[in-house]
Amino acid sequence: MGAVTGKGMNMELLRDAFAGKRVFVTGHTGFKGSWLAFILAEAGADVMGYALPPAGGPSHFELLQLSHRIAHVEGDIRDGAALDSAMMAFRPEFVFHLAAQALVKESYTDPVTTFDTNMMGSVRVLDAVRRTESVRSLVYVTSDKCYANAEWVWGYRETDRLGGRDPYSASKAAAEIVFSAYTSSYLSSRPDLGAASARAGNVIGGGDWAADRIVPDCVRAAADDGVIQLRNPEATRPWQHVLEPLSGYLLLAVRLRQQPQEFAGAWNFGPSSSEVRTVREVATTVIEWLGRGRVEIVGTPPTLHEANLLQLNCDKAHQCLDWHPRWNVDKSLEETAEWYRGMQSGADPTALTRTQVVEYFGDNA
Ligand SMILES: NC(=O)c1ccc[n+]([C@@H]2O[C@H](COP(=O)([O-])OP(=O)(O)OC[C@H]3O[C@@H](n4cnc5c(N)ncnc54)[C@H](O)[C@@H]3O)[C@@H](O)[C@H]2O)c1
Repeated sequence: MGAVTGKGMNMELLRDAFAGKRVFVTGHTGFKGSWLAFILAEAGADVMGYALPPAGGPSHFELLQLSHRIAHVEGDIRDGAALDSAMMAFRPEFVFHLAAQALVKESYTDPVTTFDTNMMGSVRVLDAVRRTESVRSLVYVTSDKCYANAEWVWGYRETDRLGGRDPYSASKAAAEIVFSAYTSSYLSSRPDLGAASARAGNVIGGGDWAADRIVPDCVRAAADDGVIQLRNPEATRPWQHVLEPLSGYLLLAVRLRQQPQEFAGAWNFGPSSSEVRTVREVATTVIEWLGRGRVEIVGTPPTLHEANLLQLNCDKAHQCLDWHPRWNVDKSLEETAEWYRGMQSGADPTALTRTQVVEYFGDNA
């Protein structure tokens, strides 16, 4: 395996690290998981995805026809027997855990499924890794929302207190505690296994149609020249293009494979603090790029609590992993709108996604 130094992750290093390697991805039918599985397949990896079937409506996973390129297993991470048997039969070297109930609003509607999936489902994933001796590198995805939010202006560091007011955030904090217990009780006794948790912020990009997320809401509004209503317009988020955290997860996975103990632990992957934007700014920019629809500020504040101020401190990833964001918010918004505009004008979704992957990971990036 080639050394990964100096320039972060690029195409050459991706191929060098993953070509011919068995990689198990949970949540590959979702937004981030479908981009990750696509990148790995492009790099020549032998990928198995394990997730629920794609949600109804348009799906990036289906548009890319990923079930023809990777081993596609429809399964529930809460079904320990099915998960164990899929992972143990596949004998992966790398595991990326992304499967989750990933929506804050849905977590208020169905807290039991949210905790069950994000906490107990993650227990099952860790337990399957514990039983699967082939695993050398585990990247376990939680969220920036795992931190107890003090509504301060500073970015959260990996050592900050975990917490969460809403069920989603609390379930991700719980998933972190579970991870910590499994690593100290089981995984750390395997010197050839590197395991890390990864915390990233709000992700934007083509191929997301989830409910109650700002970009998909703008895309839906633009499709019928309608209105996107904002209830919390001044809330700030660490917006980043989907390729940003994925490049961090991939680099982390490679480093864990090379030096399991040195890179174990928790890692933040977010944009620089100057790149933070309000919900209003993001919605307005996307609607402008899409050329249709309009933004409306609703007078009534949101009834469900959501954090207003949330930033990540990513000094650890910058200094120890040599990971740095490549696309600023404006570029990320432009690439995102470009992807949806391409779809609207009938372009091939695989070509749209591949173009952005090549541009992002291009060897000269
Ligand atoms: N999208 C964001 O802005 C964001 C921000 C921070 C963290 N995250 C985290 O990144 C990960 C991926 O997020 P996403 O945006 O791609 O979410 P998504 O909702 O688009 O996809 C979720 C994936 O998990 C799978 N899944 C859900 N419940 C499952 C179960 N019980 N068994 C098996 N699979 C199940 C779904 O089938 C899907 O493949 C999640 O862990 C999420 O919490 C996302």
